[in-house]
Parts: sequence; structure tokens; C-alpha cells
Amino acid sequence: MRRYWIPALLSSEIAEPDSPPVRVRLLGEDLVAFRDSEGRVGLLDEHCSHRGTSLFFGRNEECGLRCIYHGWKYDIDGRIVETPAEPAGSTLGNKVHHTAYPCKEGAGVVWSYLGPREKTPLLPNYEWMNLPPDQLYVTKSVQDCSWLQGLEGECDSSHLSILHQAFSQTKRGGGDPDMYAADSAPTLEGIQTGYGMRLISCRKADADTIYLRVSNIVLPCHGFVPTGGLKGNIEGYTIHSHVPIDDKHSMRYNIHFRRNRPIRPEERQHDRQIGAGFIKTRNLQNNYLQDREEQKRETFTGMGRTFLTHDSCATESMGPIYDRTREHLGVSDITVIAVRKFLLQCVREIVSGKEPPHVIHTPDQADLRHVACIVAKIPTSQDPKQFVSEQLKKERYWEIADG
Ligand code: FES
Ligand SMILES: [Fe+2]
Repeated sequence: MRRYWIPALLSSEIAEPDSPPVRVRLLGEDLVAFRDSEGRVGLLDEHCSHRGTSLFFGRNEECGLRCIYHGWKYDIDGRIVETPAEPAGSTLGNKVHHTAYPCKEGAGVVWSYLGPREKTPLLPNYEWMNLPPDQLYVTKSVQDCSWLQGLEGECDSSHLSILHQAFSQTKRGGGDPDMYAADSAPTLEGIQTGYGMRLISCRKADADTIYLRVSNIVLPCHGFVPTGGLKGNIEGYTIHSHVPIDDKHSMRYNIHFRRNRPIRPEERQHDRQIGAGFIKTRNLQNNYLQDREEQKRETFTGMGRTFLTHDSCATESMGPIYDRTREHLGVSDITVIAVRKFLLQCVREIVSGKEPPHVIHTPDQADLRHVACIVAKIPTSQDPKQFVSEQLKKERYWEIADG
């Protein structure tokens, strides 16, 4: 996690220069984020290096965040630029190193790098990173489970046919529900790539057609998911980032984008699902407001039509870190297993001193069009893997792959 740029907060949380700072808990560290007078973002240790008062209560003024106790003032790089309670000419501030992490903004998200400075990579240039704000819709919500449990929810396509199904037309979610219903036991395959894993699922659509979906697990904690179904090839897909708050909590970022048009109001479903403090309105504490009548007649879960709620219930109700020795994995878990093996392999490589995959150091590595989400209907006579590799070779695969 410390070798990659990861989402730290939404840009909108600190919308204006000199706006109030916000608390950020990230990788088990308590931090505070602020936007200085010049619009630059700083991410500092929450506790003042003097005697520990929280900088969350500080004054954000004249290009720095000032502690309210004795007025020590910090710039975005963590330099102590004023110590007004010390005698004139004091050099105390110069001797203190206050933790500060670099930040960059893209896709409405503040990305931060919490690793060794000499190894700072480039921010990946995903196709959605620099879209205009009206073509992006970004939300976040707290998940009461480890980030990996959340990420594993992106790894099996099979649960689409079960967890997210609806019996009534009005309660249907997005994507291609008819296709999910056509085959509840898709064939799954995970393929290792330079950025993570490409996950392919194939359902029997009818006697001579396969419904094929390609999603991606992108290091360190992102799922690129073809949420739009067959239409989404042209319109855009969704990025789900599962960022560790600490070992038992994570922040799920949902980055929806539309390549060629603004986001429509009806596409802003998550706004209605997330309350104050980025706590989901339907959450583990209130049993996701499950409605047993709805469960009988309208939806499989009784929890409304938003996939975010279903997915959260599935992964949070396991407990914050599930004891995986109690699992019984089957064929529907092949891609989960593949991702676990891949992540373990990455960890071993880092431990042995190797550079982890998908750490971007040169601009040519930042051409990431091969991180494609593809949904297509193909004839059963065609080899799905070959179809995918042909689509990936085409420069504008998303226009061609449309069903
Ligand atoms: S504790 Fe912050 S200036 Fe004293
Ligand atoms: Fe899901």
C-alpha cells in the first residue's frame, strides 16, 4: 500500500483554499488534510509536533495550518514555519520533522503516497483521471471490514446472478440483469497482468451465444468493474477502490465516469445511500434496513436495488477479518483464489527487495488503455480469451466490443 498512490479523501471535502481541515485515517495513521491559500493539498500527522493537540481544530490561514494551542504553523510539506510562543530567533521548529505525505488530485479524488520518498512513483494516467467534473461522479463510504474482504467482492462474477437479483422490474439494478439471470454458474478465469489481474467470466446467454465480462483487479486496491453492462463499453465503467482505514475498516471509493457526456441525475444512486460522516444509511448496525416483505416479493436481499448495499452486507457481515480457514471454496471462487495467490506473490516479491508490479516510473508505463472493462455477446464457437486479446489490440476497443 505504501508503494502506490492511494485515495486519501474526496477533493470536495476541502473544496476551497483555506477551507476547514478534515480528519483522515489512512493505513492506521491519524492524519489531517487541508487546502492551503494557494489551493495545494497537505496531509499531515493529526497531532501537533509540539505537545500533540489535534491540528483538526487548527486555523487554516496564509499558506499553513496553525495549531490553536501555541500557534505552531505547518506548511503542506510539514515544515514548521512559525513558533510564536518561542523566543525570537528560535530554531526549534527547524529541528522537528512533522510527518507529511505528498498529495495529487485526479478524478475528484486526493491521492496520497505514504511510502519512501526516493521511490515516489508517477500517478497512473487512467483514462478517467483528467475528465471534466460533470463527467465524474465520485462517492465514498466506510466499510466495517478489512479492505481485502471488500476487494474480494469484486473478484467473483458469480454473485451477480444471486446477490443482486430482483424479482420486480422496478427494483432491478443496472447492467444486464437478463444476462446475469440466464446462467448463475459462469465459467471464471483470472489472468495475471502487469497491473494486477484480468478477470474473465462467461455465461451461457442462449444455445449459441456467450455473455462475456472482463473486469480487472488493479494494484494495490482497485476493482475496475463493467457496471454499465453492454452499454458501458462506450459510456464508461466504475472503479471501486477499497482503501485501508486500518486493519478492520476500509473506505470504499466509487468512481463512476462517462466518457462522452455528463453524469445524469438518476445515475447518482449512491448519494441517497450515504449519510453524514460517509456512513451508509443502510449499514451493519441497522441490518441494512432489511425489509422481509420486499425480500419475499421484490429483491433477493430485501435491501433495495443499490448494489453498494448488497455488496457491503455480503462482505461486512463476515466480521471485520474473516477466519479463512473456515471457508469452503468452490469453482465459483477460482478468481478469488487467483487474486489471493497473486497478492501473496506480490508481497513476497516486495519482502525480497523486488519492485512491486504496477508502480509507474516512466510516462510510457502510464498508457493504461489495456486496463479495459469489456462486456460482449459472442458466438459459442469463438474462444473467449482470444476474443478478449483481439479487442485489447484494437485502439478503441470499447466502441467495437459493444454487443
Ligand atoms: S501543542 Fe500545538 S503548538 Fe503547542
Ligand atoms: Fe456485487
